[in-house]
Amino acid sequence: MGILLPPYYLTLFLLLFISFNDVGHRNLVFADDALIETQCHNAEVPETCIKCVKSDPQSQSADKVGIAAIVITCLSNKATTLINNMTTLALGARDKYLKLALRDCGKGFYYAKTNLTAATNRLKGKEYDQTNHLVKQALEGEVVCKMNVGALRFNFPNSVTFDMGVYEELSTAVMRIVDRFV
Ligand SMILES: *[C@@H]1O[C@H](CO)[C@@H](O)[C@H](O)[C@H]1NC(C)=O
Ligand SMILES: *[C@@H]1O[C@H](CO)[C@@H](O)[C@H](O)[C@H]1NC(C)=O
Repeated sequence: MGILLPPYYLTLFLLLFISFNDVGHRNLVFADDALIETQCHNAEVPETCIKCVKSDPQSQSADKVGIAAIVITCLSNKATTLINNMTTLALGARDKYLKLALRDCGKGFYYAKTNLTAATNRLKGKEYDQTNHLVKQALEGEVVCKMNVGALRFNFPNSVTFDMGVYEELSTAVMRIVDRFV
């Protein structure tokens, strides 16, 4: 008794074995996604952070610092897009004050990129306070731009407003990630 199990016991055992194995395998494969989600968890909009990090193929082997570096790269790429957008909008603006404000926005994102390059270097040097200080400076350009252009009652095209929002979200995300390194 107990030795000659009915065949369906064997099937059941096999099924259980396969599914446990599958769960174990899945945990291995998604271990890095878990780290990304943990790091982005404290961001105001975790989805924006997660989307940015996962868009980088290197994210799967990145540690915490690597994840922060990827978010800074996303910020820098967004700043490049926004420089282009501000330049185009400035060229098309008829009002001279608006033209100036939009040009300043472009300059702001240009300086932001300089700040973000410096931030990446500070991050690599484990100078986390300085990293966040620079990310904050890079965010200020966007905040000032929004304020100045808003004061002239100009509405950005929706896609630009959206990208500026993403820029803010990624800035706060990286600052919160880096805050926890200190
Ligand atoms: C903003 O810039 C990007 C990149 O150059 C471009 O693809 C996009 O069409 C621009 N959007 C607007 C509204 O100009
Ligand atoms: C950061 O940006 C500001 C302008 O917002 C600039 O004055 C400063 O020199 C920049 N610092 C670095 C290290 O890029």
